[in-house]
Amino acid sequence: PGGSVSDAFGRPLRDLRISVTDRCNFRCTYCMPRELFGADHAFLPHGALLTFEEITRFARIALASGVRKIRLTGGEPLLRKQIETLVGMLAGLRTPDGEPPELTLTTNGTLLARKARALADAGLTRVTVSLDALDDALFERMSDSGVPVATILDGIEAAAAAGLKPVKVNMVVRRGMNDGQILPMARHFRGTGHTLRFIEYMDVGNTNGWRMDEVVTGAEIVRIIGAEFPLRPVQARYRGEVAARWAYEDGAGEIGLITSVSQPFCGDCTRLRLSPEGRLFTCLFAEQGHDIRELLRSGASDDALARRLAGVWQARDDRYSERRGEAHRDHKVEMSYIGG
Ligand code: GTP
Ligand code: 5AD
Ligand code: SF4
Ligand code: SF4
Repeated sequence: PGGSVSDAFGRPLRDLRISVTDRCNFRCTYCMPRELFGADHAFLPHGALLTFEEITRFARIALASGVRKIRLTGGEPLLRKQIETLVGMLAGLRTPDGEPPELTLTTNGTLLARKARALADAGLTRVTVSLDALDDALFERMSDSGVPVATILDGIEAAAAAGLKPVKVNMVVRRGMNDGQILPMARHFRGTGHTLRFIEYMDVGNTNGWRMDEVVTGAEIVRIIGAEFPLRPVQARYRGEVAARWAYEDGAGEIGLITSVSQPFCGDCTRLRLSPEGRLFTCLFAEQGHDIRELLRSGASDDALARRLAGVWQARDDRYSERRGEAHRDHKVEMSYIGG
């Protein structure tokens, strides 16, 4: 079954982002504000989640349909029990050319020091760690957790030591909140071999009360850092790379800018997202998913699943970030559910 599929704008399917849980041990104010994700919030019951076998089966079919890169997300993916078992199962899959998929994971880093070795042994290729500030008080406020920054930094070092390199560090920049941390973060990560990436604050989900004036653009960030450390642009590694790359002129490595607000990249968007309970989302800002759990649980053949996947992808005409402002949406999927 399978073969590559393209969507309504000719974009191929290349990346599969799998959210393995809607739970998180942080309550970042822009993602899971505690007023809405409090003690009485109903998370998905375990039986609603796709099993590791179901996820792996779908991933195998997706690889036959053109996927080359698989990323595990959450919520916080390391909260899913025995996640390294799933990593091992996915690492055993092959593309039609017999290549293993690139297999990565995006985490908040709290459990990484404990888990890095097992993840690397299971076949994970790399990790991306979210970190919005180096200042403890600010970090605790933004993540609404009692976790010190040192825990995350230890996780990053453990990941690099386990060979999950280069580690990418994602910082969401919100004006008036953590824009003062842009330079301290740049200074800290220069020369470490880890790639710091700045993400423009986005209007994902329905709960963060996003406003355009809270966005610090990538261009502004390049100016701020470039004034202290000269930077030069670097060619993208491949078409559709999300982060624009800039290198330090003095050879201390590079940074990335994810400019989905100021310079949207929908034209090259090859990403499909699978939710914890088995719904496919063709855009980070989609209002509705396409259920595949029912098919998985009703004895459907691989062929039937591949046809369903092809149908969903071929009908895809999303380009939300390019049309931001033109079409208001009230019921976007939540970031904590779909994993960025
Ligand atoms: P690598 O560079 O290979 O590590 O992959 P990546 O950049 O896709 O990984 P990552 O998950 O770290 O993506 C960084 C962040 O960019 C995400 O967490 C999102 O916040 C944002 N992002 C990723 N893909 C999209 C997308 O398709 N649309 C929008 N608007 N934002 C995205
Ligand atoms: N805008 C930009 N990035 C966000 N993330 C979560 N919410 C937002 C938002 N509103 C980031 C996380 C993590 C990645 C999965 O997405 O901090 O780095
Ligand atoms: Fe958790 Fe990441 Fe959302 Fe923060 S941004 S609450 S770490 S899922
Ligand atoms: Fe892709 Fe949607 Fe993001 Fe555009 S807004 S890059 S279509 S996920």
